[in-house]
Amino acid sequence: MDSIVVRGNGPLNGQIPIAGAKNACLTLMPATLLSDEPLTLTNAPRLSDIKTMTELLGSLGAEVTSLQDGKVLAMSSHGLNNDTAHYDIVRKMRASILVLGPMLARQGHAIVSLPGGCAIGARPVDLHLKAFEAMGAELELKDGYVHAKAPAGGLRGGTVDFDFASVGATENAVMAATLAKGTTVLNNAAREPEIVDLVECLRAMGAQIEGEGSPTITIQGVDRLGGATHRVVTDRIELGTYMLAPAICGGEVELLGGRINLLATFCEKLAAAGISVEETKDGLKVSRKNGSIHAVDVTTEPFPGFPTDLQAQMMALLCTAEGTSVLEEKIFENRFMHAPELMRMGASIDVQGGTATVTGVKKLKGAPVMATDLRASVSLILAGLAAEGETRVGRVYHLDRGYEQVVRKLSGVGAHIERVSGE
Ligand code: EPZ
Repeated sequence: MDSIVVRGNGPLNGQIPIAGAKNACLTLMPATLLSDEPLTLTNAPRLSDIKTMTELLGSLGAEVTSLQDGKVLAMSSHGLNNDTAHYDIVRKMRASILVLGPMLARQGHAIVSLPGGCAIGARPVDLHLKAFEAMGAELELKDGYVHAKAPAGGLRGGTVDFDFASVGATENAVMAATLAKGTTVLNNAAREPEIVDLVECLRAMGAQIEGEGSPTITIQGVDRLGGATHRVVTDRIELGTYMLAPAICGGEVELLGGRINLLATFCEKLAAAGISVEETKDGLKVSRKNGSIHAVDVTTEPFPGFPTDLQAQMMALLCTAEGTSVLEEKIFENRFMHAPELMRMGASIDVQGGTATVTGVKKLKGAPVMATDLRASVSLILAGLAAEGETRVGRVYHLDRGYEQVVRKLSGVGAHIERVSGE
């Protein structure tokens, strides 16, 4: 297993290009199952999760051809010939559950392994299943698989009241409803930019949808969907992650492709911490002159609140802020596993359930640390950028799931970072 070695260094300067959004691509790819015409995605990120989704779609009989070094995905599910998504693929990536809605809508039946939990939580899919039942589907859980069957005439429009604004459940429900007979209304729907991006793609395929980005989404079912070419939206989590690099190290870095509207709450918190964020023609310019970092309190919420996927990275910044910050993780039940690793670097963090209290220290000290999940791994790299000495982050396969070319992007702005093979 590879490790990444970071040495603390001074201010960072230059530009970092931001890739297409992993979490948009992972719902856009299953959308190809809704139509027998080609769907092409451009600005796709080059990540191991995308490879896993490619493998899963291939196992169902869909074709995904990777072009232009993986930035273009030409897909077709003309040859759909299997309705079962097997555990050995699904267990690698929870987003696999997003093939259930499209398969149910397209062919009336689907068998998908339950994704199981992961490091950050139990990750149930009850809200996904509730949505399909509201559209008339019969669901049976057997041997760890969901067996889903649409009514004889296909899914019917229905009303879904989500107890929680679940991103995945909203995406699955929207995709299933595009081919249901009649109108579907989703109440308390998630509002993430990745959902807006999915709806824009589905609309280009001929879907009739309104309200994306608001808590109520209305879908008028159509008989069939066509093909389309769609550009994947910029990855706001990669964007926020790299905005924190100059925030932690000092200097000035322009994040190409970034826009404030993708991360308004996060940008407000950075400003409160003493970081300057300026929208330019090409992206977002982030700088911290020699001022100190101020402590800020953070609570993670569904969009447009502070993203849970940036909580670990923000904690890395606050470890050396002046004062005490309180971080509340309201989305997942176990998303502070980066805290003990940061404490190995000298951070002062008290975790009580879903609340972490961070008391700023002058400087962190480099140490060997362990990545536990995708966002925790990059939080440790950010901490290492400003720590004294060397930090070695193990198990970086977590990183490869969501960040392409980390070493190249950070060394391109002056970071001392390298990838070494073996533990
Ligand atoms: C998506 O996961 C993202 N993944 C996650 O990003 C992100 O953290 C999350 O949304 C929240 O923004 C992808 O888009 C592939 P949820 P998802 O359904 O859809 C509970 C990353 O690092 N819940 O909004 O699984 C659930 O347990 C990943 O890129 C139910 O109880 O998130 C969790 O506590 C991590 N029942 C909360 O809702 C359900 O049926 C948020 O889940 C579904 C969810």
